[in-house]
Amino acid sequence: MSVFRTKSIESSMASAEEADHKLKRTLSALDLTVFGIGVIIGAGIFTVAGKAAQAYAGPSVVFSFVLGAVVCGLAALCYAEFASTVPIAGSAYTFSYATLGELIAWIIGWDLLLELMLGASVVAQGWSTYLVTLLKQLGVAWPAAVGPGSHFDLPAFVLVAALTLLIAKGIKESMRVNLVLVALKLFIVLFVIVAGAFFVNRDNWTPFIPPSQPGKAAAGLSTPLIQLISGMTPATFGVMGIMSAAALVFFAYIGFDVVATTAEEARNPQRDLPRGIIGSLVICTVLYMAVALVLTGMQKYSEIDPKAALANAFVHIGKDGFATVIAAGAVAGLTTVVLTLLIGATRVTFAMSRDNLLPSGLGRTNPRTGTPVRLTLIIGAVVALTASLTPIGTLEEMVNIGTLTAFLLVSLAVPILRKRRPDLKRSFKVPGNPWVPWLSALACFYLVLNLSVETWIRFVVWMALGFLIYFTYSRSHSNVGRGVDEGRAQEAPEVVGER
Ligand code: ALA
Repeated sequence: MSVFRTKSIESSMASAEEADHKLKRTLSALDLTVFGIGVIIGAGIFTVAGKAAQAYAGPSVVFSFVLGAVVCGLAALCYAEFASTVPIAGSAYTFSYATLGELIAWIIGWDLLLELMLGASVVAQGWSTYLVTLLKQLGVAWPAAVGPGSHFDLPAFVLVAALTLLIAKGIKESMRVNLVLVALKLFIVLFVIVAGAFFVNRDNWTPFIPPSQPGKAAAGLSTPLIQLISGMTPATFGVMGIMSAAALVFFAYIGFDVVATTAEEARNPQRDLPRGIIGSLVICTVLYMAVALVLTGMQKYSEIDPKAALANAFVHIGKDGFATVIAAGAVAGLTTVVLTLLIGATRVTFAMSRDNLLPSGLGRTNPRTGTPVRLTLIIGAVVALTASLTPIGTLEEMVNIGTLTAFLLVSLAVPILRKRRPDLKRSFKVPGNPWVPWLSALACFYLVLNLSVETWIRFVVWMALGFLIYFTYSRSHSNVGRGVDEGRAQEAPEVVGER
């Protein structure tokens, strides 16, 4: 029973056809792009960008956004190739099951759960903070005892509960709500860019790259791992500042990979998934660079508010009304992020339970809604409780480490699958294989090293829990391990074609 056993692509395609584990194919290329933008634009641009400019990079945070986009762009190419070759729910988990073997697939699935469930919880808390801010601006005081930062964050709980019910009802319904909220969010981001452009003072852009200063030596567990290993002196601003800010604003791009988790629900996944993944990433990169320029042009970088940068930049120039509109946009915008991360989490666990690495009964789809209702409710409950009861505001870095590890493994898997299965039909191919995928893996590795020792320790604990479940349950129950999948492969749809 090797932990490196793989599940063939044919077998994955056949599992997707099982009647009681089948998802409905309803999504178009536009749906997928909207889905991508819905999950990408969120707390990253509404809050993290300001913090990165103020503390690490000044106006040159624009370059950090470019760097973040390059790292994600490289990984996006790898995701797009896989999604066009293996259009099955489960994203990186399914891709790696076909290439790197069951244990690595399990590790990636476990990483993705960390990214998606913790990400949804963190953003739900951010949503709650913005909601209370908005209510306050409208003259309504929310009781602090059940507000953000209290023992029970009621708004975060209600948000996750409502979105869970929506997702259980059907993915098309979720997409419709998503479309309206994404339109509103794009409008707000464009509003910030256009309205803010009138108040840019070019003097604020000088110096564009503030001179490097010795940073506050990060103490103990919050030291980035790379500094602990290399013994270098921490520095902010200058070129190193641009790098540190890039590791931070990476959060703003997280989510394009979630598009790949809906592969089985796309009408024409092999053509539309690469379009959805790369399209949403390009649109967001352009918007982020524009917002970063406007933000650092409106206010001296050292005066930017690291918590609610966009809204407060307008308060700074005396436009309080605009700030209220932006807070309202953030509430709408963060809703779609939580919605999409929740959908992603259910789809990854769905794929894992279909392979019996998690109990298969959990992933059964409801014949009426065409969605895995039971699993959706369980994931929703876990996220709602995590978001409302735990002080996880400081755990964003955990989301980054889970995501980057998955990106790294997916990048390594691309050349492996090219070698092992050159016969598969690939409607999208990463250019410059194997160098581009290797470069992508290297870039992810560099960013992971920039995360704190504390995050690494938490990550090791999470992985240890994952290993425990794998070796006590999944390994012996796995469909692949028990040979259950062998017969199905013959019934698989055609996946082999021109190279
Ligand atoms: N990219 C998402 C955000 O910025 C996670 O909120």
